[in-house]
Amino acid sequence: MHIAVIQGSPRSESNSFRVAQFLSQRLNIRQGVNTSLVNLRELRFPNFDDHGELDEVHQLRKALLSADGILFVFPEYNGGMPGAMKNALDYFRSEYNLKPMAATTVSAGPFGGLNAWHAFHSWALYVGGILLPNNLKVSNVSSLFNEKGEPVEKHFSLNYPKFLDEFCWLIEKLTAD
Ligand SMILES: Cc1cc2nc3c(=O)[nH]c(=O)nc-3n(C[C@H](O)[C@H](O)[C@H](O)COP(=O)(O)O)c2cc1C
Repeated sequence: MHIAVIQGSPRSESNSFRVAQFLSQRLNIRQGVNTSLVNLRELRFPNFDDHGELDEVHQLRKALLSADGILFVFPEYNGGMPGAMKNALDYFRSEYNLKPMAATTVSAGPFGGLNAWHAFHSWALYVGGILLPNNLKVSNVSSLFNEKGEPVEKHFSLNYPKFLDEFCWLIEKLTAD
């Protein structure tokens, strides 16, 4: 199965990107799973307009369409998902329809991006995604990894394997012939 991991923070020193890299690596070591990590920061979508087919639109469309499932990893910004991420996602619509999706929300604070999860949840259902009910919430992200990049936060270490198991299960069920 092929999973697109979409990282939604626009910051150069993004903590969400580190989380996305980690989850992508963990998915890749699973038998039968491979991922492509798409960093929206690097694609730098312009503010939405009818631009015609831009390179970045072409690239992300290809990633969305070729994926059996999409894992979105993004921070909470002012109680929602980052505006830059929503702007990039607005370039597409049919690409999301009936696509298995899951979300990991990231926060430097203690609430794991709960408000961003709610905002994403509404969006994902609106565009026709099949959303995993469980969401991986990452709190206190600045102290999540040690200097070797290993997770040192107890709740994250407990929660992420189950979250990835469930997402792979969902994709398998929905893509079975
Ligand atoms: C513009 C902006 C708004 C933010 N709003 C929130 C917020 O509403 N809730 C929250 O828990 N953290 C908020 N944060 C802090 C993020 O949790 C923090 O930047 C964290 O590192 C994850 O984002 P990153 O991937 O951009 O690094 C905000 C950060 C920025 C830059």
